[in-house]
Amino acid sequence: MRLKDKVAVVTGGSQGIGRSICETFAREGAKVIAVDMNVAEFENESIKGYALNVTDRSAIEAFYAFAVAEYGRVDILVNNAGITRDALINKMTEDMWDAVINVNLKGVFNMTQIAGPLMMEQGSGSIINIASVVGEYGNVGQSNYAATKAGVIGMMKTWAKEFSRKGAAVRVNSVAPGYVNTEMMKTVPDKVLDPIREKTMLGRLGEPQEIANAVLFLASDEASFITGHNLSVNGGLRL
Ligand SMILES: NC(=O)c1ccc[n+]([C@@H]2O[C@H](COP(=O)([O-])OP(=O)(O)OC[C@H]3O[C@@H](n4cnc5c(N)ncnc54)[C@H](O)[C@@H]3O)[C@@H](O)[C@H]2O)c1
Repeated sequence: MRLKDKVAVVTGGSQGIGRSICETFAREGAKVIAVDMNVAEFENESIKGYALNVTDRSAIEAFYAFAVAEYGRVDILVNNAGITRDALINKMTEDMWDAVINVNLKGVFNMTQIAGPLMMEQGSGSIINIASVVGEYGNVGQSNYAATKAGVIGMMKTWAKEFSRKGAAVRVNSVAPGYVNTEMMKTVPDKVLDPIREKTMLGRLGEPQEIANAVLFLASDEASFITGHNLSVNGGLRL
């Protein structure tokens, strides 16, 4: 059990990569709160769904008050909730830009602004931002998404510095997945996915469990000397 009795918060935990992270953490002994706009049911009783929009700052305050009252502490935060609104820059509306920035970038800021200082007070914690290969290399039609995913890597590096002050052992890292088989990918046509498979050394998309495995490692004490690091989990993809 690599996360025995740890309390973990996973945003966007109802489906896809987030759900796989919740289930993986629970199997490793964590008590997990899966926060999501759409609450899901889980078979594992160690996972509780909680309705929360990561853009709603007052609801986030209420959520952490609940989490601390109910669980006593927060050991792990995974900032996983994310959306896409793709278009070439000349076709990208202000609404598309704002929607993605609000969820993927400001949502991560909102969730961490309370969790980081809380973990510093506790003296320890682990925060993992879910970035993307698109934040590392850019991608046609994803100005907004690429900006947010490069942004969560930048914030991760900043928080690794901020939250390790005053002797606190709060580690902050990110995981940058390549293309992974989830609902998000169902909107992407094969004419886009086939060249991606070709550009991936391992010749296929990833599975949510393969991302969750990397997140588990960074969340666990096995990664006790790793902070400020972006871990690419992409099968050898270069965009
Ligand atoms: N699927 C991929 O290929 C891929 C690749 C790289 C990075 N990522 C990143 O991994 C993360 C998870 O992606 P996924 O493919 O599992 O996505 P998904 O669409 O399957 O799931 C995302 C979850 O986030 C929730 N969510 C969306 N907006 C929210 C909000 N404002 N507040 C709370 N919850 C919200 C949704 O309800 C959903 O349950 C995202 O950050 C995504 O950008 C995915």
